[in-house]
Amino acid sequence: MKELATRAVNLSPSMTVAIDTKAKEMIAQGIDVVALGAGEPDFDTPEIIKLAGIAAIQQNKTRYTAPDGILPLKEAVCRKFSRENGLEYQPSQIVISSGAKHCVFNALLALVNPGDEVIIPAPYWVTYPELVRFLGGIPVILEAGIEQGFRITPEQLNAAITPRTKLLILNSPNNPSGAVYSEDHLRTFAQIIVQNDIYCLSDEIYEHMVYTGKHVSIASFGPEIQSRSIIINGISKSYAMTGWRIGYLGASLPIARAIAKIQGQATHHPANISQWASIEALDHGESFYCGMRESFRKRREFVFNELSQIPHLKVPSPEGAFYAFPQTKHYHGLKRPDGKPIAGSLDLCTWLLESQRLAIIPGAAFGMDDYVRLSYAASEDILHQALSRLKAGLAELV
Ligand SMILES: Cc1ncc(COP(=O)(O)O)c(C=O)c1O
Repeated sequence: MKELATRAVNLSPSMTVAIDTKAKEMIAQGIDVVALGAGEPDFDTPEIIKLAGIAAIQQNKTRYTAPDGILPLKEAVCRKFSRENGLEYQPSQIVISSGAKHCVFNALLALVNPGDEVIIPAPYWVTYPELVRFLGGIPVILEAGIEQGFRITPEQLNAAITPRTKLLILNSPNNPSGAVYSEDHLRTFAQIIVQNDIYCLSDEIYEHMVYTGKHVSIASFGPEIQSRSIIINGISKSYAMTGWRIGYLGASLPIARAIAKIQGQATHHPANISQWASIEALDHGESFYCGMRESFRKRREFVFNELSQIPHLKVPSPEGAFYAFPQTKHYHGLKRPDGKPIAGSLDLCTWLLESQRLAIIPGAAFGMDDYVRLSYAASEDILHQALSRLKAGLAELV
């Protein structure tokens, strides 16, 4: 048979999904695995949103919609951007897609030509560099480790920009590190972006999960930066709606039109029913995410305190999202009881899964092999078990 397309062969599967799948297989076999791998809230979708979805079905909102989404949802997104981010958009500048991940893909499809450079701070969400490469672009990775609070500096950004730079991808609050950029930091980035006439894709999906300081959208510093920014967000994390698959973006009219055209030929639009339920989420979901954030705040304190007590593990207190990203470098190079060395974060996570039945994600998946990622979007009981398994597993390495 003829070979598959090179782009499909070269695309790497997500390492986070790989560990999560292995853990789920073990659970299906009856093995008692404690999984802190998944990046989704452990809460149920709020009742009022579920009812809005049921009402949409009963009212036969079950046919095709406009490719870029239904107007009432685009209007709700405009209200949300204005109320929470100080950003004014017209509905024609909004595109609704099947999750924020789909928005990221659509935006890159609209912007990246083969050979274009895309600046991506590391640690990064796994999808960004994979999709850039998929489109023939060149990811330019800027490392920002624990010593700089997982935040790139303006000097790093300036030094990375070349005539071939097309855009910067920002993700604050960050998956996996939890780092949040300050207003001043973002203002400086905005100036650099405008001066160099590049674009900025800002993935703000964790905006409601900030524990110290506040979330600021980079597009809020004026029309020059807003017109160069693609602001991506969604309902998955804030309203515990990962399976409903709705994400949205705001962009300048030419970019939004290009994205709508691409989506119109590819997937047409996300589920009509989910779109109606999302209006309820955006208009009336604030108390839900505020409550969820308080739960995450307590779990974050517990996880941070426990991790800080483990010898040789370095962990800053995460400011946002629902992940901890401790540095495990000290343990790399040590040996397991069977004599096998731990070469890096993947070996460490494989060892913890096999010996302790603990599923966490290797930092290598996020471009930083010296770390591992734990999600604290899990019950306190599960977090207790996870931390004691982590301590036991690390204590066995010599
Ligand atoms: C940084 C980041 N962006 C986007 C997404 C995708 O969100 P959605 O479920 O809306 O596709 C995730 C999910 O893990 C994420 O961590």
